[in-house]
Amino acid sequence: MIVIDYNSILQAHTERLKTEGLYRSFMPADKNAATAPRFSYTDATGCRRTAINWCSNDYLNMSVHEDVIAALCKTAVEAGAGSGGTRNISGTTTLHQQLEHTIASLHSKASALLFNGAYAANLTTLSTLGKLLPGLVFISDERNHASIIEGIRAGGNQKFIFRHNDTDHLLAILKRIPAAQPRIVVFESVYSMCGTVAPVDEIIRIAQRYNALSYIDEVHAVGLYGRNGAGITASEACAAEPDIINGTLAKGYGVMGGYIAGSSVLVDAIRSFGSGFIFTSSLSPVLCAAADASIKYVIQHPEMQTAFHRQVAQLRELLHAYDIPYTDNPSHITPIPIGDAARCRAIASALLEAYGLYLQPVQYPTVPKGEACLRIITTLRHDVSDMLFLVESLRTVLLENSRFTTAISSRLNTAAHA
Ligand SMILES: Cc1ncc(COP(=O)(O)O)c(C=O)c1O
Repeated sequence: MIVIDYNSILQAHTERLKTEGLYRSFMPADKNAATAPRFSYTDATGCRRTAINWCSNDYLNMSVHEDVIAALCKTAVEAGAGSGGTRNISGTTTLHQQLEHTIASLHSKASALLFNGAYAANLTTLSTLGKLLPGLVFISDERNHASIIEGIRAGGNQKFIFRHNDTDHLLAILKRIPAAQPRIVVFESVYSMCGTVAPVDEIIRIAQRYNALSYIDEVHAVGLYGRNGAGITASEACAAEPDIINGTLAKGYGVMGGYIAGSSVLVDAIRSFGSGFIFTSSLSPVLCAAADASIKYVIQHPEMQTAFHRQVAQLRELLHAYDIPYTDNPSHITPIPIGDAARCRAIASALLEAYGLYLQPVQYPTVPKGEACLRIITTLRHDVSDMLFLVESLRTVLLENSRFTTAISSRLNTAAHA
């Protein structure tokens, strides 16, 4: 009998990642509602330490907001922890319907549909549309999120990739597609790894002109931009209306879950045919109540959005004052370009170990090879003294690291020429 060694095949894959420096290890960052963005962790020597989180997507700290926690606790006592079913089999509660109603009206759409995350929402909606609309062609921005890429791939349809935010390229592609062929333009509003913002209005208008559906992922924009925090599509920069909006309840709203919002016909089709919606336990009612409370709080407190963007500007002013290069962009995401992935990891480790500052290094395949960076994300609870400490420490570590790498490379050069 031939014995197949499954473990060694799988291990070869993870070993390859380790050799390429791409293996991911997770650090438990133990959140604390009272002290966030400060959290606890156990360092390499087994000691418990405190650090400041500079890479969380809990942008408005809604995950630790008292109204959200109160809604969550009250519902847990009343309804229990989980929904106990799929949406079709006893897993729909009034809280699910209420939240879908809140989301639909947030985005001025007729309907909305909840998923367990925006990943599931992208994957299910895009792949289901691919199956339901014969010959559908996907036209997708080259920097789209993995969930969009997987959703398009799962449908097995024809696809074209346009250069990041390049509307001329998008136009050129649309012109080549036969007029009778259904097509959908898929893009994000805020790109979370590089912080770029799409020309949303222009892309939607181009899609409309070429009879294409428009699908926008507003995951990193909801809560933070536009009227009521409804995203870039609800901002002054956008008057055109996309056909489908995807969003998350996990970042700006601080809870968990994802959704799409669109016309009743579209939402009903995904509700009826989307495998990733139908065949999974529904979102816990506890999370529905918390997310509903969070969205409503953000709508009632537009000053949070203003304060958040003021903080981003303050952080960038300090980086500028301390001569720390960052990639300028119109969003709230501030990338510090480093380049080499190993150097980026070394800088992140030094910041954590020596200064208690947690920044996640971003490297290939999340960004192209050679474009590793640190991404700084401020949240409402970071204050000016936190920012000052960050830029002072970052400057010290960057200087030490560049001296170190220069010394090593000149030593290597000398050795090579000896
Ligand atoms: C652009 C984008 N879309 C979708 C998702 C998935 O969202 P969720 O965490 O709600 O599944 C993410 C990241 O988490 C994202 O960055």
